Amino acid sequence: MTLHAEPKKLPVAEPSFLTLHELVKKARQKLNHDNWDYIIGGTETETTVRRNRLALDSIAFRPRVLRDVSRIDASSQFLGHSLRLPIILAPVGGLENFTAGAGATAAKAAQEFGVAHMLSSVCEPGLEAVAQEASEALLIFQLYVHGDADWVDSMAERAIAAGYKAFCLTVDTALYSRRERDLAKRNIRRHNVPGREYQAQLNWSDVARLKAKFAIPLILKGIATAEDAEIALSHGVDMIYVSNHGGRQLDHGRGAMDMLPEIVAVVAGRAPVIVDGGFNRGSDIVKALAAGADLVGIGRMQCVGLGADGQPGLVRVLEILEQEVRTCLGLLGVNTWTELDSSYLHAAPPVSDPGPTLGAFPLLSLDEKSFY
Ligand code: FNR
Repeated sequence: MTLHAEPKKLPVAEPSFLTLHELVKKARQKLNHDNWDYIIGGTETETTVRRNRLALDSIAFRPRVLRDVSRIDASSQFLGHSLRLPIILAPVGGLENFTAGAGATAAKAAQEFGVAHMLSSVCEPGLEAVAQEASEALLIFQLYVHGDADWVDSMAERAIAAGYKAFCLTVDTALYSRRERDLAKRNIRRHNVPGREYQAQLNWSDVARLKAKFAIPLILKGIATAEDAEIALSHGVDMIYVSNHGGRQLDHGRGAMDMLPEIVAVVAGRAPVIVDGGFNRGSDIVKALAAGADLVGIGRMQCVGLGADGQPGLVRVLEILEQEVRTCLGLLGVNTWTELDSSYLHAAPPVSDPGPTLGAFPLLSLDEKSFY
């Protein structure tokens, strides 16, 4: 006879994630090696990936105090929508490889939380299905050009018919880069997509044609210099998306946060500026807006949320980013984005090596044992 009955085990709920690194860890545990490397990898030496973090880590804040920060509002306006944070989920192809519902799941998370979503043309379940499943979300469609001018125009027509609010051409992918994490494991399905030659032929006359034919706002993603931002504006491009593709295209590029100031300066308020590349923390988003960006794209952290726990995981990433953003704004002494400018930023030596993968998480230790 036992004196003490075994206590009945109550079902334990999955502990909710309190930090972003817990979500990264969970995603790492759940994703297989191919998907993990596809997500976090970059081109060749992965120097551009590291520079994205290095550029952010090389900026310190200049906070102001005693300013009554009891009314912090981190929301912002974009394309006539009110966003809870100035964030767009960056286009990510191949979500179907590791998230049920793929692009529709990401779009529904954007809708649930209240940020914008950009759907990749190489992501399931396709632009019409995503628009149907997330009909209240602010949706933008991004195209890789894998066909001739008629094909591109037909894709613009489909995006307009499905209710997308803007059309984005990715312009930093003239050639598909060599991503050695994928190549080393012979995970090369993405290296062999038919129609890639059309992406290589793309030039400013295609931009002029799209602007002349379609009223939908046009975004160019992958602008990396003031010169190209100026040419884009002279072609009537409506939004400039500053990006090095998360270090997945040209190796030895500049960090996104290093490219941003010259582009903001030349754009000079003539068009909204979106930026992405290494923005993994709330403070990173604050730095981008202080430097003049209007919206920040979230690539790998979107994959982390989805990989950790699908739609709720991505919503949780956004909730934690929001907490970090609000804390950062308050401690800088501002209540709203309009009060922020580059006087809050100061060049500073980075305190740590950005590391080969996802930087910004000092408490994160991942099993990186050799997969190759
Ligand atoms: C991407 N990116 C991307 N860009 C694009 O224009 N079309 C696409 O289909 C994809 N696909 C894609 C897949 C994966 C797994 C990643 C990580 C990235 C680039 C993406 O939109 C964005 O520019 C970067 O991800 C931003 O950098 P961070 O946030 O990942 O550091």
